[in-house]
Amino acid sequence: MSLKITDNVNYVGQIDWTLRFFHGEQLSTKNGTTYNSYTVKGTKIALIDTVCQSFADEFICDLEQTININNIDYMVVLHAEPDHCYTLGHIMKLKPDLPIYCTANAVKSIKGYFHNENWNFNVVKTGDKLDLGNGSELTFIEIPMLHWPDQMMAYYEKDGILFSSDPFGEHYCSEFMFSNKVDLSELEYEAIKYYANIVAPYSNIVKKKIAEILALNLKIKMIAPAHGIIWTDPEYIINKYLQWCNSYKENLITIIFDTMYKSTHKIAKAIKEGIVAQDKEVKIKIFNSATTDVSDIVTEVFRSKAILVGSPTYNSGILYSVAGLLDEIRGSRLTGKKAAAFGSFGWANMNIKIISDTLKIDGFELFEPSGIAINWNPNKDNLKDCHQFGKDFAEWCK
Ligand code: FEO
Repeated sequence: MSLKITDNVNYVGQIDWTLRFFHGEQLSTKNGTTYNSYTVKGTKIALIDTVCQSFADEFICDLEQTININNIDYMVVLHAEPDHCYTLGHIMKLKPDLPIYCTANAVKSIKGYFHNENWNFNVVKTGDKLDLGNGSELTFIEIPMLHWPDQMMAYYEKDGILFSSDPFGEHYCSEFMFSNKVDLSELEYEAIKYYANIVAPYSNIVKKKIAEILALNLKIKMIAPAHGIIWTDPEYIINKYLQWCNSYKENLITIIFDTMYKSTHKIAKAIKEGIVAQDKEVKIKIFNSATTDVSDIVTEVFRSKAILVGSPTYNSGILYSVAGLLDEIRGSRLTGKKAAAFGSFGWANMNIKIISDTLKIDGFELFEPSGIAINWNPNKDNLKDCHQFGKDFAEWCK
């Protein structure tokens, strides 16, 4: 695909409308994704990033038709993850002497993937510039661990475009590649889902890097990320990131459970009724972790001020969908959120301790008592206790 962004900048990436999982089968992508690549032109031409394996042929074919690969003077690799770097191998086969501009860590990643020691690497650091002639210049800004050690951004001052790599991206596609032409609520959901599932573990770095970029007083008119739509209102997404990286929470409590014979499900419902009775303002979401997309649950946990996690005791542990979800949540390194556990048990009252201990390790502040366990199938009195537990939890979360 080729799309003019400005007189000097063209979009040459690929759109994957049908992709439903990313990072293997790890992250759901219900709105597909894009692999963004750009050309920037002065008297010389730089190609920024490439695309993934499944679009290699289309990418090369489109590039040959639009600019002719022989006319590319510089290859800029903002990030060496294969979704952006796989087709670098194809480009280098066609033009083996092409100078590659990237960070020192990217050299390691690229050599690790391609095992080619002979490519013409040019290591850059924050503040280094690549002169393309005719007033066109790219300035590099390293962003290590957002979300790989090798990453950097490139700022194109002439047109005020920040090529941001993964940060500020979304797994979202549209025939309109600009944020002012798409459904903003849909786009924002995909942006926060992307943040919660990919960027959130590095929120401290996001905070520092945004401060560093803002201190440079760049006149950013557009943010062109590595996935999804180009932001035509950079302040909008920068402000969102500033909120999301700062122990973000909405007035939302999310209840997540798995169940075998509905006992834990009944407890979840009774707790929910208690929360509703105590707090008329708080939003509540309830998910069965065995039947709900994990990436969507992680997104709601990221938005929540508190979560309740339920499972029956099962084989001296808890059900695997809950255990797996807790592991995912731990990976996001969330801060400033509250939690409690619940669930039924038969002969081994172990579930609450297992869930609570895990939530504590995951960084949640635990309610006291840390959970409510009901033996076998809850009766009326048990459900009253669960209702009260919900009320007390809601009050504690206010
Ligand atoms: Fe989209 Fe970290 O690669």
